[in-house]
Amino acid sequence: MLTVGLIVEDPKAKSIHSKLLEINRANKAFFIMNLNSENILKVRALTKSVKLEEKTLDLLQDINLDVNAGDTLAIVGSSGSGKTTLLSILAGLDLPTTGEVYLKKHSLHQCNEEQRSEIRANHVGFIFQQFLLVNSLTALENVMLPAELANMDNAEQLAKDLLTQVDLGDRLDHYPSQLSGGEQQRVGIARAFISKPDILFADEPTGNLDSKTGRHVADLLFDLNKQFGTTLVLVTHDLKLAARCQRQVIMDSGCLAEGKVEDIVEGTVDVIVEGIVEDTVKDQVETPAETLAENPAGTLAGTKVASEG
Ligand SMILES: Nc1ncnc2c1ncn2[C@@H]1O[C@H](COP(=O)(O)OP(=O)(O)OP(=O)(O)O)[C@@H](O)[C@H]1O
Ligand SMILES: [Mg+2]
Repeated sequence: MLTVGLIVEDPKAKSIHSKLLEINRANKAFFIMNLNSENILKVRALTKSVKLEEKTLDLLQDINLDVNAGDTLAIVGSSGSGKTTLLSILAGLDLPTTGEVYLKKHSLHQCNEEQRSEIRANHVGFIFQQFLLVNSLTALENVMLPAELANMDNAEQLAKDLLTQVDLGDRLDHYPSQLSGGEQQRVGIARAFISKPDILFADEPTGNLDSKTGRHVADLLFDLNKQFGTTLVLVTHDLKLAARCQRQVIMDSGCLAEGKVEDIVEGTVDVIVEGIVEDTVKDQVETPAETLAENPAGTLAGTKVASEG
């Protein structure tokens, strides 16, 4: 059998990369090396269990994941499948029970709280599903906080600019209790952006936003990725947003699998393949409306997302 190899120098050449993986699977005779790829995140055999009285709950099981710097990755999966639990560990907010997590060569699993907090301040942005704003601080002060912790000079001006970008320029002095859920979420987004993190974890970043604001926020996230090479790891139930990412993975009862968006629509993770978004979205558009109507999760129905990315 003839083995063909290709060295891809541009780590952003994702569509080519995905196609080649497809050929690889079909022929089992193709290898790809990516010369420039740098893993910003590496996860090995990660598990998370919690003890509840006499029972042990296994929340995450044997998670393995590599994320290249500058990539965009969507984690999708049903409610309670472990997405937030995983994101918290990847961001160094929580520790795994067993296994290894490397973030920019830092062994997060071996770090104490103080070390993890320093790594987070220097490299990580996090948009929380529950916002987690400081109630005693105004919107402006909430956004400034990480910049002040990282000793940035122009924290106030940066925070004002970011709040203006998320359409909250006239809400700077409002406290979280004076803001709607969607407004609080946008403060959380501005806060996550301020230190221009190397990697941004976003847990349902558009979950509380109307579709127009959600699109705007998603555009901001992907702009950040393009402008600064910020790696994005998004948890979302919005398959249109997931499809805008270069890669999708599926959480299912604490296990992670590479997936195509169509697998999610069909509610199956049997086919474990790397996502090829263009093809996936095209397939969805060509799927008859009745078929999609049978899939309540089929939010890609009639999508125009193919041209949005
Ligand atoms: N500290 C804890 N103690 C016990 N169970 C927990 C704990 N934290 C999470 N769980 C459970 O772990 C499971 C995964 O929770 P997680 O918040 O990660 O789910 P999720 O995929 O983010 O769900 P959603 O889409 O609803 O946000 C859930 O069943 C949850 O009840
Ligand atoms: Mg969650």
